[in-house]
Amino acid sequence: MKVTKLNYNRIARTYDFLSRIVFWGAQQKIQKGLIKWLKNGDNILIVGGGSGWILEEIAKLNLAKIKITYVEESSKMIQLTRRRQFQTSHVEIIQADIFELKIREKFDVIFTPFLFDHFNKEESQYLFEKLNKCANKSALWINTDFSLNSGAGKWWKKIYMAIIYIFFKWAIHIKNSELTELDPIIIKKGYSKLFEKYTYMNFIHGSIWQKE
Ligand SMILES: C[S@@+](CC[C@H](N)C(=O)[O-])C[C@H]1O[C@@H](n2cnc3c(N)ncnc32)[C@H](O)[C@@H]1O
Repeated sequence: MKVTKLNYNRIARTYDFLSRIVFWGAQQKIQKGLIKWLKNGDNILIVGGGSGWILEEIAKLNLAKIKITYVEESSKMIQLTRRRQFQTSHVEIIQADIFELKIREKFDVIFTPFLFDHFNKEESQYLFEKLNKCANKSALWINTDFSLNSGAGKWWKKIYMAIIYIFFKWAIHIKNSELTELDPIIIKKGYSKLFEKYTYMNFIHGSIWQKE
């Protein structure tokens, strides 16, 4: 499937700063909590990791014999990632559009942090199914993204999400303008939810799923 190329190069240097200011560090905090589910020996696929700060956080966990495949589309984000200190982990960095990448390996963990909000329902479904094919039996899927679904404050979240999409339309030329809720897609593929957490006034959601 062909999806429109996003231009994260344009905001690569400022992305982390902006994210920390606008979301009060909630995007980073939720990911730091979710990676505590990683175990020694895990073979991990991270898609859309951005500037690579998450690799430094994983390295701090001192997990033995983990292997990370880090797929990121933006060449500037990849440059920033290569400057990071994550020597304790074995990391393979791949600059690619995940929709086009041929993946032959199987993984124990698939981590998609703030990735699926870029794609519409059809694209999300396609990508989920593609990545699901490289998930081992009993693999964990760690996902975090915005959510409109936690009950309270639906109206302001919709407005906030629309503003985010307007900014990203200008900044990275995103085409999508509607958040796809991933939970129904994950459930349909037979995953069970092990954990979930809401933060930032319940607008940011993290969840951990296990493949049956
Ligand atoms: C919103 S940023 C989040 C970055 C990081 N996960 C974080 O939380 O700091 C999304 C990242 O996904 C990457 N991305 C978007 N579409 C992608 C694709 N099709 N293939 C690979 N990476 C992609 C972007 O380049 C960007 O770095």
